[in-house]
Amino acid sequence: MDKVLKSFIVFEGLDGAGTTTQIMNLARYYEFNRREYFLTREPTDNPIGQLVRQVLQKKVATTPEALALLYAADRHDHLFSESHGIARMAEEGRIVISDRYFYSSIAYQSVECDPGFIRLINAFPSPEFIIFVDTPVEECLARIEKRGEARELFDRGEFLTSVRENYIRAFSSLPEGVKLLTVDGAQPIDTVESEIRRWLSSFSL
Ligand code: TYD
Repeated sequence: MDKVLKSFIVFEGLDGAGTTTQIMNLARYYEFNRREYFLTREPTDNPIGQLVRQVLQKKVATTPEALALLYAADRHDHLFSESHGIARMAEEGRIVISDRYFYSSIAYQSVECDPGFIRLINAFPSPEFIIFVDTPVEECLARIEKRGEARELFDRGEFLTSVRENYIRAFSSLPEGVKLLTVDGAQPIDTVESEIRRWLSSFSL
């Protein structure tokens, strides 16, 4: 059986789906209830993650395959680093919440690279919980526009439509022991938040 990291919660979704807002709200809720948790994200703030962000900001140019390898390298470091690896934290029973994980690579990098290659370089342990904030592409684009953010590499409608399809395909065959919540991200923030809370609390989280 594939390895599953217990008490590891991963949020996934398209750019503009609202994952970051939902993670902050969940963190605040855990804070209020004095629950211990560790909040993190990918790309990370570590050196390889910073390099990834430079590629996204077009400050550094590379190939889609090299970018995919950088995401995977950042992820390996994120999981297994001696000093800050989250795999050990999760194994010790700490709640670890990550904004994105390898499903982002499966969904995003598979648009431009060979999906078999992306799978191969992302043979990482599964999280126990995946929360997929599924927001329609049009809504995501409208939110990105409203934020007035400089459009990064991936903020394109057609591209995001393919990414969403890849997510849905990846989530249709998950290993045993991995639990998935797909929540409609077009709903009001509070509704999404309470659906997530209700679902997690059914697993005592
Ligand atoms: P994101 O979490 O949206 O960063 P920020 O909060 O700074 O906007 O991630 C940045 C982009 O990277 C986003 O478009 C998704 C993409 N991405 C991948 O393509 N593959 C990956 O493996 C990861 C983790 C992210």
